[in-house]
Amino acid sequence: MASPASEMEFRLAQRRILLIVGGGIAAYKCLELVRLLKKHGVAVRPVLTRAGAEFVTPLSLAALSEDKVYQDLFSLTDEQEMGHIELSRSADLVVVAPATADLIGKAASGLANDLASTILMATDKPVLVAPAMNVRMWLHPATARNVAQLQADGVSFVGPDEGEMACGEFGPGRMAEPAAFLKAILERLGEAQVIEAQTGPARPRGPGPLTGKRALVTAGPTFEPADPVRGLTNRSSGKQGYAVAAGLAELGCEVILVSGPTALPTPEGVTRVDVETALQMEAACREALPVNAAVCVAAVADWRPEVIANHKIKKTGQGGVMRLVENPDILEGLAKAKENRPRLVIGFAAETDDVEANARAKLKKKGCDLIVANDVSSGVFGEEDNTVVLVGRGGVEQWETVSKAEIGRRLAAKIAEALA
Ligand code: CTP
Repeated sequence: MASPASEMEFRLAQRRILLIVGGGIAAYKCLELVRLLKKHGVAVRPVLTRAGAEFVTPLSLAALSEDKVYQDLFSLTDEQEMGHIELSRSADLVVVAPATADLIGKAASGLANDLASTILMATDKPVLVAPAMNVRMWLHPATARNVAQLQADGVSFVGPDEGEMACGEFGPGRMAEPAAFLKAILERLGEAQVIEAQTGPARPRGPGPLTGKRALVTAGPTFEPADPVRGLTNRSSGKQGYAVAAGLAELGCEVILVSGPTALPTPEGVTRVDVETALQMEAACREALPVNAAVCVAAVADWRPEVIANHKIKKTGQGGVMRLVENPDILEGLAKAKENRPRLVIGFAAETDDVEANARAKLKKKGCDLIVANDVSSGVFGEEDNTVVLVGRGGVEQWETVSKAEIGRRLAAKIAEALA
């Protein structure tokens, strides 16, 4: 059996960081950091700023990381290989080291005029920043403001350390030493594992049984506004839908995930389209067509307020009545589409009793090919596990209780079989 230490190393072996090397004398420490990270099984993809290239060469970074070094926002070759948006999401963690006053300022004010700052704006991954600059620059109120802003935005920091600086002054501003820096990175990657546990670990991606196929997945709740601050929604966490999207992507499928508001990270290799209302979700689904398979996991609100007030609705002391209108049924629309009907249309059903009978009725009414039904009487919203029964035209299949991630993988395998 693997020891805890080697298990940790194994998990880290699947971890990747995007390292943005800024322009400061401390850039040389990044070379040691890359070496240490590689030794711990963490893959490093370097991005070198123009100023950073004055201090370390692309060649040393490429040799130590054993990866390509990205330098330009407008590089045709780079964009053909991997677009800058994709690059910004191609790792589990984005690390900026050394983070100069300029880079910190740009990130805090949302500027995006080169590759590094664009990545920091476009990424949906956690960001760890290691500042390094002259002590006066670090203590300047503008830097303090920018650091506070980034912290409020959820960015974490390591260092700076206090000590003698390359410029001869003394004080805070030295970049964290590689060993302490490594620890901070491993800790952040460890935190990422908690998020990952919700949707299941990423598996190595490559050509799979669904390569060349395209799928649409809806997930999460919808939010139907009543006025600028209120609305109708439900308790769906989106976990099951995200797990289905992840399962399909793992098998090489091109996945468009149309998601209502959730707090989940986008699964690797998945294109996510964020929507709020059922009408927006319906439009985004139509836009995603043609697809080979559509899996509707979203808990779409059945109704929406007939009128959305422009102003916050005020109390009158007399209660009130809100008129609701029915939302379109997205699943039914896809299953009964005259044009571009996906070959496979799958729905989910949340039932509190007579699970199988109700699922069978839903299959017929909505015209889909399969209903994945779950019993929500004991509460499944937000949980990690799920118990489902698959009701298709050909028969019924009861699955034992497994994680939502596992259901996502098994369903993806079934879809691959059906589309083969
Ligand atoms: N669904 C949809 N659009 C809607 C309502 C539901 O696409 N407006 C989809 C869900 O994504 C799910 C399936 O329909 O795949 C079943 O949803 P469920 O809420 O169980 O069924 P309802 O049709 O709302 O029926 P009821 O609430 O009466 O059980």
